[in-house]
Amino acid sequence: HIVAVPPPEDEYADIVSAMPSTTMIGFPLLRYQGSWLLKTWVTGVLSVQRRFAPRPDDVLLASLPKCGTTWLKSLAFSTMARAAYPPSAADHPLLRLNPHQCVPFLDDLFSSGEATKAVEALPSPRLMNTHMHHSLLPPSVTAGKCKIVYVCRDPKDGLVSMWYFAKSIMPAGSTYTFSDMFEHACHGETPNGPIWDNILSYWRASRAHPDKVLFLRYEEMLLDPGHAVTNLARFLGVPFTAAEEAEGTSADIVELCSFKAMKVLPANNTGTFTMLGFPHRSLFRKGVAGDWVDHMTPEMARRFDGIVHEKLRGSGLTF
Ligand code: A3P
Repeated sequence: HIVAVPPPEDEYADIVSAMPSTTMIGFPLLRYQGSWLLKTWVTGVLSVQRRFAPRPDDVLLASLPKCGTTWLKSLAFSTMARAAYPPSAADHPLLRLNPHQCVPFLDDLFSSGEATKAVEALPSPRLMNTHMHHSLLPPSVTAGKCKIVYVCRDPKDGLVSMWYFAKSIMPAGSTYTFSDMFEHACHGETPNGPIWDNILSYWRASRAHPDKVLFLRYEEMLLDPGHAVTNLARFLGVPFTAAEEAEGTSADIVELCSFKAMKVLPANNTGTFTMLGFPHRSLFRKGVAGDWVDHMTPEMARRFDGIVHEKLRGSGLTF
């Protein structure tokens, strides 16, 4: 007995049409449960909330856009799949596929009426990602049904990264400037913003449930990727064995997923993201910390840091 699932865009039309809206870098954003969502992902988010059924061995990667999602996907995929695909193998999937083709993105996937079936068909343990605030995730997920790994980045670098990413598909002749985007960001109007609320939601969850939510920092991962991978494997319940340590498995994962190695792969230089039409190559720009100094005036940086500092006050998290 097959019941046709209506496309979410029809099912949620009334809810979506009532959401406040704005536009940032030409992208429509809709306000939903305290978060600004890219319009194209709204039905997906609504559908994840209603239809996603987590399994205890699911792993959900979470992040703000432009804060290390692609890297985290590569690291988690190669760590979890290392029995089937040793990281030094010449035919490793990450050598021929973009990392986003290896780890499904729930917020986008669930905007299709067929998504529930596709996600249910994935073998366990499933590895998926989201940009949703922790507070927007379905209650079964926030109650700790599955594990979550969050990557956090200095928001100023995230903004610079978003600027270049957006520029890669901005219409020629657009008059929208970095300062315009910065102004939106100061008011919390960025995809999956406010930035501070997204970060804080996972920070608090990680403090409350450290066995269920791992909070990583992009800058620390850059400084010591080997430690990040070891930590990640342990958290995911697949620590490196002594034999793997002796063989250098974690170092192989670090190398496979390094910015330098990934940036030159054909899979990361050709083709476009199915969602939004971004070229794959726009995912690999500089991969460093502190690039904001070349894009923000000291005044802009002071203003943004001040806002973030105020929002994070008392949380124990600082930048
Ligand atoms: P920059 O634009 O500052 O270079 P996301 O994957 O969430 O879209 O984030 C993209 C940012 O992560 C980009 O930052 C990109 O260069 C960086 N990045 C992508 N792959 C990386 C890797 N393997 N190691 C470190 N940084 C990486």
